Amino acid sequence: MKPVLVLLVSTAWTLTGAQYYYQGLMDYLENRLLAIEDRMQFWHEQSIRFHTEMRDFKKLTAEAMDGLKNEHSLLQKDIERTVVQVDQVEREMDYVETRTSPRACASKADKVVEQGAWGLEENRGEEEEEDWEELYSRVSDCVEIISSIRSVKILKRVGSPKGMWTRDPRSSRVYVFNGTSGDSVSQFNSVRDFSGSVGLASSRQIRLPSEWSGPGSAVYNGYLYYIQHEADMDLQVVKYDLLSASVTDIAMFPVESHAAVYTLNPEIVVDLAADDEGLWLLYAAGDSEPNINLAKMDPATLDIEEIWDTRCPRDNAEAAFVVCGTVYVVYNTSPASRSRIQCVFDVNDMVINAEAPLLYFPRRYGSHASLKYNPEEKQLYGWDDGYQIIYRLTMKRKLLV
Ligand SMILES: *[C@@H]1O[C@H](CO)[C@@H](O)[C@H](O)[C@H]1NC(C)=O
Repeated sequence: MKPVLVLLVSTAWTLTGAQYYYQGLMDYLENRLLAIEDRMQFWHEQSIRFHTEMRDFKKLTAEAMDGLKNEHSLLQKDIERTVVQVDQVEREMDYVETRTSPRACASKADKVVEQGAWGLEENRGEEEEEDWEELYSRVSDCVEIISSIRSVKILKRVGSPKGMWTRDPRSSRVYVFNGTSGDSVSQFNSVRDFSGSVGLASSRQIRLPSEWSGPGSAVYNGYLYYIQHEADMDLQVVKYDLLSASVTDIAMFPVESHAAVYTLNPEIVVDLAADDEGLWLLYAAGDSEPNINLAKMDPATLDIEEIWDTRCPRDNAEAAFVVCGTVYVVYNTSPASRSRIQCVFDVNDMVINAEAPLLYFPRRYGSHASLKYNPEEKQLYGWDDGYQIIYRLTMKRKLLV
């Protein structure tokens, strides 16, 4: 009986021991689960909080973005309005300038053609051939008129505020006349040579037998035509052969007047312009004559062929040039503002002032001391306060009436 009891007791003890053991394990697991549950609950709450915060943040940024967008569009509108106003003021100023210049021929037309963007680059090379082709079709029937000033290129700044430069269309050589008179001319082999040079030192100096007067000379087909204006002497047109370095012809100037042809450039008594049509002289018929006169001269013999009164006033004129038998007179004010072509005269009566647009040059440093047209390149060689500038022009056909 005793071993049975011992067995029973020991079994009971073992049972209670195991029971305790499992109970402890269960408690432990339950606690762990609770802890994990707590933690999960915590993370859940945390994520909800983050979510809410995120949503609020998004809402805030969206609101801020909307605000910014509104402000931006308001600013944009303001800028647009200001641009329109500036444009208007500029037009009004130009209009007032037009009104205040005396006897402005083209102002009757009230046509204001504004050149918007001025491309500063020049597409040389590929356009050269095209230009030549255009030239050959044009020379036989010269019926072109300037429609706009396409671009401007500032080559360099050399010499005095006044002067002139030009390029012989046949030889491509560049001739620089520094100042308003002198007995020497600087010659460069090309426009590139000129723009790459330091000052005028690297050029070839051509010494003339007499002084040229006023930046009103012309170079064409290997000849230099200049005005000789010596004290107590009549004006003379000199034809100088650049190749043989000798004077080939001299002609008396047809009028006695020594009045300036453009009142804004009083040094120029006669302005010469050469093109395929011939040699042109722009001058004043007398001190009291208000208009610019035009004479056509045979470039070979220096014979005067015909004379016209252009009806373009000398007053407030700064330069003029001839394209295809049409004189374009450029006006400005003193002090200088914006140069503009404001009077045209066509020797063939095909272009009338009302048809010719009022063309503005881009706003520049000062005023033009000279503007020389090159018919082969359809560009103007300008001298503006010591800057050498090239303006490229676009053409259109004259209206045939
Ligand atoms: C241009 O001429 C002026 C005088 O008219 C002279 O002082 C100046 O040195 C000349 N410039 C050059 C580069 O020859």
